[in-house]
Amino acid sequence: MSDVTTATDARSESVEFVRRLPKAELHLHIEGTLEPEMLFRFAARNGVETRFTSVDELRAAYEFDDLQSFLDIYYQGAAVLRTEEDFHDLTWAYLERAAADGVRRAEIFFDPQTHTDRGISMETVILGISSAIERGSELGVSTGLILCFLRHLSGEDALHTLEAALPHRSKLLGVGLDSSEVGHPATKFVAAYDLARSEGLHLVAHAGEEGPPEYVWQALDVLGVERVDHGVRAMEDAALVARLVAERTPLTVCPLSNLRLRVVDDMAEHPLPRMLEAGLVVTVNSDDPAYFGGYIGANFGAMIESCELSRDELVTLARNSIEAAFITGDDPLFSDFDAAVEAL
Ligand code: ADE
Ligand code: ZN
Repeated sequence: MSDVTTATDARSESVEFVRRLPKAELHLHIEGTLEPEMLFRFAARNGVETRFTSVDELRAAYEFDDLQSFLDIYYQGAAVLRTEEDFHDLTWAYLERAAADGVRRAEIFFDPQTHTDRGISMETVILGISSAIERGSELGVSTGLILCFLRHLSGEDALHTLEAALPHRSKLLGVGLDSSEVGHPATKFVAAYDLARSEGLHLVAHAGEEGPPEYVWQALDVLGVERVDHGVRAMEDAALVARLVAERTPLTVCPLSNLRLRVVDDMAEHPLPRMLEAGLVVTVNSDDPAYFGGYIGANFGAMIESCELSRDELVTLARNSIEAAFITGDDPLFSDFDAAVEAL
């Protein structure tokens, strides 16, 4: 057998190894799971026009220079989502894919302002997504829903959005912050986060994706987040890394997203192995899989291919995801994980 075949076999064995490890996905935008085929299906059933004429043409448009060039297309795509059924079908399709990759816990982001700003009610969005996630147990996936504020909009908008969602408080696990990072400081969102905290919601935020380490400090100190989404640029600040390690603050890293949005030039240079080595509680996630070339399994696959992660590192990444999930210490996922590792 040639060396190339042996290396390829070893990689596919590692991918299968990861698939069998119970995992949590903690950084997944439901709007980012809108596959082109689904986009056309929803557009047709809702009578919404798109400027693309075929799936191939749409996929070809998924070439991004940076975060903003992606967000421009992503918000346009979301315009086909109009009914509870659309949100249900989108979410169920994601859960099926996640379950097939060995995801046993999914904490799902949604962006209500993307929908309410074009006249879709908060109720349609939350009830549509919830009707799917409440059936996650049929696939062996426990779920939670995290409402994200769009950081390019105002702090007041964020506060009103949370107030409008509170009649559905029981369906929410937490709040987050996403969209354009640079130029939109966390300080705008203190009131919205204070309200979320007083409601007992968990707190996360995107930070250190395109923005410098200062954005991560602000997420921690100004918003009081429990997890940082992305956080790859934290590696530029040794004092910040030391703090994240000491406090075991998880970072939800998204390798394919970082490549496609040019946060890294080459997957072989992705900081994830160095983050693990530094003792950070890093996890692997898919962010917007329909736009970035794959779900959580593909993200692990890309890291295995380019960074040659060892089995121990893969186990650590999966264990980190369960430790970082907003579940209680007696959740069966912990013992299931130990049993799965034992059986490997
Ligand atoms: N919304 C969806 N994906 C995002 C990302 N990677 N960064 C910021 N906002 C987002
Ligand atoms: Zn994200």
